[in-house]
Amino acid sequence: MCGIVGYIGKQKASPILINGLMRLEYRGYDSAGISTIEADGLSIMKDKGRVKNLYNLEGINDLKGTIGIAHTRWATHGKPSKENAHPHQDNSKSFSVVHNGIIENYNELKKFLIDNGYKFYSETDTEIVPNLIHYYYTNNNNESGKMKFLTAVKKACSDLKGSFALEIICKDFPDNMVVVRKDSPLVIGKGIDENYISSDIPAILSFTRNFYLLNDFEYVFLSRDSAEFYDKDLNKIDKETKSIEWDATSSEKNGYDDFMLKEIHEQPTAIRETIGAKFNENSKCEFDGLDFSKDYLSSLNRIYIVACGTAMHAGLVGKNVIEKLCRIPTEVDIASEFRYRDPLIDDKTLCIFISQSGETADTIAALKLSKEKGAKTLAISNVIGSSITREADYSIYTHAGPEIAVASTKAYTSQVVLLVILAIYFAEILESDSENLVKLKKEILELPKQVEQCLQLKDKIKEFAKRIYQEKDVFFIGRGVDEAIAKEGCLKLKEISYIHSESYAAGELKHGAIALIEKGVTVVGVITEPTLVEKTISNIQEVITRGAKTLIVTNQKVDKSMFDTVLEIPETNPFISPVIATVPLQLLAYYISKEKGLDVDKPRNLAKSVTVE
Ligand code: AGP
Repeated sequence: MCGIVGYIGKQKASPILINGLMRLEYRGYDSAGISTIEADGLSIMKDKGRVKNLYNLEGINDLKGTIGIAHTRWATHGKPSKENAHPHQDNSKSFSVVHNGIIENYNELKKFLIDNGYKFYSETDTEIVPNLIHYYYTNNNNESGKMKFLTAVKKACSDLKGSFALEIICKDFPDNMVVVRKDSPLVIGKGIDENYISSDIPAILSFTRNFYLLNDFEYVFLSRDSAEFYDKDLNKIDKETKSIEWDATSSEKNGYDDFMLKEIHEQPTAIRETIGAKFNENSKCEFDGLDFSKDYLSSLNRIYIVACGTAMHAGLVGKNVIEKLCRIPTEVDIASEFRYRDPLIDDKTLCIFISQSGETADTIAALKLSKEKGAKTLAISNVIGSSITREADYSIYTHAGPEIAVASTKAYTSQVVLLVILAIYFAEILESDSENLVKLKKEILELPKQVEQCLQLKDKIKEFAKRIYQEKDVFFIGRGVDEAIAKEGCLKLKEISYIHSESYAAGELKHGAIALIEKGVTVVGVITEPTLVEKTISNIQEVITRGAKTLIVTNQKVDKSMFDTVLEIPETNPFISPVIATVPLQLLAYYISKEKGLDVDKPRNLAKSVTVE
């Protein structure tokens, strides 16, 4: 979590830094700060609260420095406060540092520094970093110039356990900056006589399309017109830029009130782009970079799909399709649990990791473990060059464009579409059920149009949202793949409306949770599984009997008079119905959040990219 931005060029740095931070606020927004190199040394300005508060700080407009670092925080160590906000400095104010990640051994290092006379003024793990760099810098009489700066950073980083993306400026180097990363994202955007640094690409996309992607423990010594790269032992290395196709306007709101609403409406395009040229009705599925053989797929003992939150919910849909089309046992795991449960992995296991950002720490850790145990690993991400795609043996991409709102919408539906196409690709290699596969492909091509139709339901959904936005508890139920849809609708609601919600397999409710159903409680029922319609309706009947108010999302024939509100969505193959059935649930969460006057894009306590374990 946390977002970091840096600038080194000829323009005044502070507006560029603050502007960049605003675009990164989805990564954390409890405090923010910048440090620039001014004529009289390093300046620091920071405060508790949103990035925009920086504009109110006295003297911020007087900053003239053309080099600077900046940070928006999501608190891990120490409460949100001015003292704990970044940047942090060493005691002699020679170094300013911003950090994204967690230093796991900071207590041990803090003790070492205190024993060596250093004092600490914040509760953060980060404050040890500038002091450690200072310690190695002042104790190095063998080197001078940039190697002295780089060696101090390198020695400090070698002591750190955990994850970090760091930007460091030093008063002795008024024209330079050093950056490095380990397990936390950091990119460098190359301009003309200027360089931009950021936690992610969209924040600086309006300045450049050419990016250097850093690997762990690569050190960069930046000047206005150059970026010198060094490996972990400070040997110089070459690095090429990568050109990014997203355009800057795709990370703007484009007239929508919020990014979430914009991203919900972008789903038809995102799905179309994700389908891309992977197949047409008569051709087999193809993925650039995948070369699975029939022998390999037939030899698999199991597939694991590992992810977090919404991406994990997409995995549940993927499991359903892969098992039914390919008959390969498939398990879905929450990434933060996966590596601690000693999973059964060997060279006959394929592990698929889904992450919109490609930077989720739990997912990356699970991927590394799977590789160590000999599995082949396949990453699904929305971000080219993101950490999971660089770690995995194979990578395939959703093409949803940048997703800014914390609540994931277009990334989810694109992930589901991609997983279904992947399942078809496997099934075609395994030579199974070709007639149904052709039909399914046709139905996938219909999805963008069907999502458009679901978006037309928004007035009805808004009306229902007005009725229930003050409620305390909402339940989501469904059977089969409809349970996976219910889970996603439930997460969306609690995440942005702060209403307590639970999702259940409809048939499981009566084994306990039905005790919570009383007059007026809202139950959202999802009915898209044709073979389970009657069973699910019986379960919904059970809650109606106990006084529940019901909202039904369905593409099946049901007696509408039974329910309070019915949202009719287009009929499609049950494998892909989650793509369309989730859209009304996204809109429901959105409108409830709006009715409550909440910040839809930046819900409390959350961050878009969870780069801590
Ligand atoms: C969804 O709305 C969430 N904000 C969250 O669950 C998210 O899907 C999860 O943190 C995983 O993120 P990733 O796809 O970037 O790995």
